[in-house]
Amino acid sequence: MRPIVQSKKLQHVRYDVRGPILVEAQRLEAEGHKILKLNIGNTAPFGFEAPEAIVADMVQHLPDAQGYSDSRGIYSARTAVAQYYQSRGLTDTTVDDVYIGNGVSELISMVLQAFVDDGNEILVPAPDYPLWTGAISLSGGTPVHYRCDEANGWNPDLEDIESKITENTHALVVINPNNPTGAVYSEETVKGLVDIARRHNLVIMSDEIYEKILYADDAVTPVHHHVATYAGDDVLCLTFSGLSKAYRVCGYRAGWVMVSGPKSAAEDFLEGLTLLANMRMCANVPAQHAIQTALGGYQSINELIVPGGRFYEQIKLANRLLNDIPGVSSVEPHGALYCFPRLDPEVYPIEDDQQFVIDLLRAKKILVTHGTGFNWFEPDHFRLVTLPDAEVLTEAIGRIAEYLETIRR
Ligand SMILES: Cc1ncc(COP(=O)(O)O)c(C=O)c1O
Repeated sequence: MRPIVQSKKLQHVRYDVRGPILVEAQRLEAEGHKILKLNIGNTAPFGFEAPEAIVADMVQHLPDAQGYSDSRGIYSARTAVAQYYQSRGLTDTTVDDVYIGNGVSELISMVLQAFVDDGNEILVPAPDYPLWTGAISLSGGTPVHYRCDEANGWNPDLEDIESKITENTHALVVINPNNPTGAVYSEETVKGLVDIARRHNLVIMSDEIYEKILYADDAVTPVHHHVATYAGDDVLCLTFSGLSKAYRVCGYRAGWVMVSGPKSAAEDFLEGLTLLANMRMCANVPAQHAIQTALGGYQSINELIVPGGRFYEQIKLANRLLNDIPGVSSVEPHGALYCFPRLDPEVYPIEDDQQFVIDLLRAKKILVTHGTGFNWFEPDHFRLVTLPDAEVLTEAIGRIAEYLETIRR
């Protein structure tokens, strides 16, 4: 029989967060090993539960959530999202500017399919959340990675962005707070990004799914700045966010994209986006009912991100323990759920970081993700998810330290 192969469209698509290393972890598990999985920002397996009001709302609405909804989402959810951005200073936002999807993931793919033509260049941060790079390739575009500067708190290097713009560049992707670095961009940086987009006529795609997961320390009280508030009327901005992280319901699949800026100039693109929304009928309807409840009222996330809260204590502990390992340096994350430490190549001669992560997995039964899986340029970083409790994190980082000792120069 003729071999059945994957499409050529997938040639440049990678998603290492769930890639070959996870397959190896599953093989080891099948052999009976217990693997500490610190590779995916999935809150539920680590004992984080959805706010009760969200579950209650979904249960309440389940009987009337059996049919397809409007393909852009149920009215109450879109209104709640629009009102959320109105309250954040984007007073012109209307229900028609909001599309609800099965998580931000689906909307990233839909937006890129509607926007990108073959050969269009799209600027993406390095390191990035690799779905962006994969989805750009899949839609026929060329991802062009701009450097985020580790020495500057992982803020994007604006000069590097500018130097990579060509006549084929169509959009600038921003991920803030950032996965995998935990950087929360300063107001100056956000303004700088918007300024570049304005001068070069680029659309901004701003992934803000971690907007409510911010950690202060003695030196910094991070503030999340929505790119859209600076983009004004003349830069088209697509803002992505959702319930997965701040409301601890990754599995419900509820996210949105909000369109702001010169919408009349974008009518054709928006028609295309609506076409794609129609083609997939609608997002999961029960989860859409959770959106209004989540955005209104008491925000339980605020308890988790302050001293004494699990998110806060765990990320601070992980970062401190990582920095205690000789030859390891980890920039303080001010947001999100990850540390992205550097392994000094002078101390740890790693040439292939995917192999490093597989060797670590086999030796110590810890699963992390290699930095080049986030399109980082050198094989000298890895990402650790900080969702396990303090005891497990301490054990895990202890095992990583032991393994590193065995490969030290
Ligand atoms: C930056 C970023 N964007 C999007 C997503 C996917 O979010 P969702 O669960 O809404 O699809 C993730 C998940 O880890 C993420 O880190």
